[in-house]
Amino acid sequence: MIHTIEWKDSGVVMLDQRLLPRQEVYRTYSRYQEVAEAIRTMVIRGAPAIGVAAAMGIALGVKNSPVDSIEDLDAAFAIICDTLAGTRPTAVNLFWAIERMKSVYARTREKGVDAIRQALITESLAMHRQDIESNMEMGRLGQELIPANARILTHCNAGALATAGYGTALGVIRAAVNAGKQVQVFADETRPFLQGSRLTAWELNKDGIPVTIITDNMAGHFMKKGEIDCVIVGADRIAANGDVANKIGTYSVAVLAKENRIPFWVAAPVSTIDPKIPDGSFIKIEERDPDEVRKIQGIPITQDEAVVENPAFDVTPHRYVSAIITDRGIARPPFTESIRALLL
Ligand code: MRU
Repeated sequence: MIHTIEWKDSGVVMLDQRLLPRQEVYRTYSRYQEVAEAIRTMVIRGAPAIGVAAAMGIALGVKNSPVDSIEDLDAAFAIICDTLAGTRPTAVNLFWAIERMKSVYARTREKGVDAIRQALITESLAMHRQDIESNMEMGRLGQELIPANARILTHCNAGALATAGYGTALGVIRAAVNAGKQVQVFADETRPFLQGSRLTAWELNKDGIPVTIITDNMAGHFMKKGEIDCVIVGADRIAANGDVANKIGTYSVAVLAKENRIPFWVAAPVSTIDPKIPDGSFIKIEERDPDEVRKIQGIPITQDEAVVENPAFDVTPHRYVSAIITDRGIARPPFTESIRALLL
């Protein structure tokens, strides 16, 4: 069992994903500012995990806020929420989680400071539990799509490490294995942060699920040779028309899959759907530190001043997506209609 994030009396405990797979280090954060920094610096990452971390960060900030009056807590709460909202812009789960905490605050406000503190902790724990439950449900529904003896390509890490547990894309794979299917997973390395080679391979190896690491530029080669049967990835934000923001490189994989007539599936909870945006052009793409490209694990691999771009995500147009597996059912094209029906 992988403990990505946990609430303890001492604070929020996270497995430091920057150090995997070489070191398993758990860090305890006792201040909400530290939780925000942990999200920003990718100690924890992956859309659903970021949402749970933000919720726990808010609960922690309010628990530790040294105020007595409700008016002072209102002001402190606004600052805490803004700090967490300012960490990473692309995954909608972060903002979804903050909105959920805000509505608990509003509902509990008249009961006073202590009741709010307790209600926010309870809500963040519920979000943690519900995320695992929705991943299990996604797995149950999605594994039906996976053929026997499937050779499955995945990109980035959409596993237990990217969620409260079990995973979205990797949850579907886990469920297929639990249903008795043999699978072989191909994990794209996923430059520059190496979520595939460092995290996906680590967690699948832990579970004894066969996984082969390939570099990102090898995916087309294996597809063309007929060695990939399906692709399954997670998502950071899904627009109302089914356009999908996910880790940089996902778009290339989706185009290659269509060219090679391979199904391209996205697995994500409905909390990743942003029905307010009509299409993917409205999704803000996070730009990260160029040093993530200039260095690997701190070791320079380019000239120090090499000009670099580092968008962390891209948007895959819905025409490349064969199905979106959610915790409420599987949406298929045309997505505008099928997504709307899921959200009713
Ligand atoms: O930059 P990251 O590591 O947070 O990006 C993560 C991804 O792109 C995942 O595929 C996505 O969040 C889905 S995780 C279940």
